[in-house]
Amino acid sequence: MPCRLVFGLSLGNAFNGEELRAWYDRACKGLDAVLDEGAMPSLTTELKIDGLAVALTYIDGGLVRAATRGNGVTGEDVTTNVKTIRGIPLRLRGDNVPAELEVRGEIYMRRSTFEALNERLVAEGTRPLANPRNGAVGSLRQLDSSITASRGLDFWAYGIGPTTADAPGTQTDTLDWLAALGLPVSGERRQLDTIDAAVSYCEGWASKRDSLDYEIDGAVVKVDRVEYQQVLGQVSTAPRWATAFKFPAREATTRLLDIEHNVGRTGVIKPLAVLEPVEVGGVTVSRAT
Ligand code: IVH
Repeated sequence: MPCRLVFGLSLGNAFNGEELRAWYDRACKGLDAVLDEGAMPSLTTELKIDGLAVALTYIDGGLVRAATRGNGVTGEDVTTNVKTIRGIPLRLRGDNVPAELEVRGEIYMRRSTFEALNERLVAEGTRPLANPRNGAVGSLRQLDSSITASRGLDFWAYGIGPTTADAPGTQTDTLDWLAALGLPVSGERRQLDTIDAAVSYCEGWASKRDSLDYEIDGAVVKVDRVEYQQVLGQVSTAPRWATAFKFPAREATTRLLDIEHNVGRTGVIKPLAVLEPVEVGGVTVSRAT
């Protein structure tokens, strides 16, 4: 069911350290009027997990609605299916639960879960899924929520939307607060004082990404103080207070075995490459458009 959304932003990109520093310089300039002479805004760095964005609405501590981001304006109501995801609490924890809170985060499928699911699909004679992201999207879009439940999806929270609570003043404290309320947050986040440290964090994860049991397509760098985030605001659909450091696309070489031609829904012929299976970032690819 479609539902109206208030979280439609996406992130701008930096593809290397130089572009990340240029983003920080622009942010500092944008904060010129509020920063003390010589002061530099501190940052938080997080992993950019490759799943799908959801907004969870908690009222009086109970989960009442979950929506995907959809096209940024209209999302999909996925409440029933989201309620089956283990890591997503149905009730918030603690004595200081806000009357209303929107939690934003990413639903994803672990690599190990994805591989086990694909083995099962193949054994059942069904076509395997292309990658963990498609695994997460497809598993959430099931009409039968017991199928979603059986898929072992995971979630982590990376921010908040509207709330009646006195929200924390920094991104770091916001994530600590969400963790205290019982929401899963990443242990790989860092609060850093300099853009140099943020560049090292991002470049470090670019080479360590395969050590994780989930796909990340980059890192996210955010200005830590919420007050500064508000001053910076957004341009078009991207915030000026955060940016994504995107990792290079994964590449692999293999042999082209055949080219299939399929007729699409509109009658257009779509060629499909049949490849000698090759592993790219922990996923076996045997077909490509
Ligand atoms: S912050 C733009 N933090 O990346 C609003 N987003 O283009 C602020 N994502 O689909 C988003 N990990 O769901 C943020 N640690 C993280 C993230 C993250 C993944 C996704 C997000 C959205 C896309 C932004």
